[in-house]
Amino acid sequence: MGKMLVETHHLVKDYLKPTRLRVLHGIDLQIERGSFASLIGASGSGKSTLLHVLGALDRPTEGDVIFDNVNLEDLSDDELSDFRNLKVGFIFQFHYLLPEFSVLENVLIPDLIHTDRESPEVRKRATELLDYVGVGTILDKSAGNISGGEQQRTAIARALINQPQLILADEPTGNLDSVNSDKVLELLHKINRELGTTILLVTHDRSLADKTDRIIELKDGKVIGDHLLK
Ligand SMILES: Nc1ncnc2c1ncn2[C@@H]1O[C@H](COP(=O)(O)OP(=O)(O)OP(=O)(O)O)[C@@H](O)[C@H]1O
Ligand SMILES: [Mg+2]
Repeated sequence: MGKMLVETHHLVKDYLKPTRLRVLHGIDLQIERGSFASLIGASGSGKSTLLHVLGALDRPTEGDVIFDNVNLEDLSDDELSDFRNLKVGFIFQFHYLLPEFSVLENVLIPDLIHTDRESPEVRKRATELLDYVGVGTILDKSAGNISGGEQQRTAIARALINQPQLILADEPTGNLDSVNSDKVLELLHKINRELGTTILLVTHDRSLADKTDRIIELKDGKVIGDHLLK
């Protein structure tokens, strides 16, 4: 097992519509196993695009993503969807929970996608995870009827259900007040420390970035700063 969980080699991403636009200009990055890095940069600098390519939500135009010693380019579409489901947990600014389903059901969905049928062990793990993230008492409420902070905690539990190696969090606190924002960040730190999950966090908030192990700064699709803090 190498020290690096993710490596990119000269990653280039072009969007083709409405006109060809180069958004990532040859990114070489290494993300160490167990680390907690933040990704900062102005709006439009390519942060979300980079996260999408790292998590195989999108394919690069040129270059490679090596994840856990596997080149994502070598995976078929089916293998890529398993990869996304099993190896990576995504947390977005807007949580994308299904409002009609309960908190518990929302956390079970990624497992159901993977296995087709619900297992008692997974249900138990989902319940434990919801306890872990601090919403264990509202399992049966529908996700549309809980607070923004509770929704984001539920989304974090959902991201963890398949025990991913990497969490990609795209401004997970962008929609929360400062109290809930701090709590969500504390929770991510706890997950990193206790579960050993590698985390890459996009944030506009410099004070949140300062609490991570490393700050990677993007400008116009290039890495212009990379600082280890710990
Ligand atoms: N699907 C798409 N099709 C075409 N252009 C896109 C697409 N997604 C993003 N872009 C463009 O790519 C550039 C980088 O976008 P990206 O979303 O990666 O920036 P960002 O750093 O995440 O910005 P923000 O901080 O506002 O979220 C922007 O110019 C954006 O308009
Ligand atoms: Mg973005």
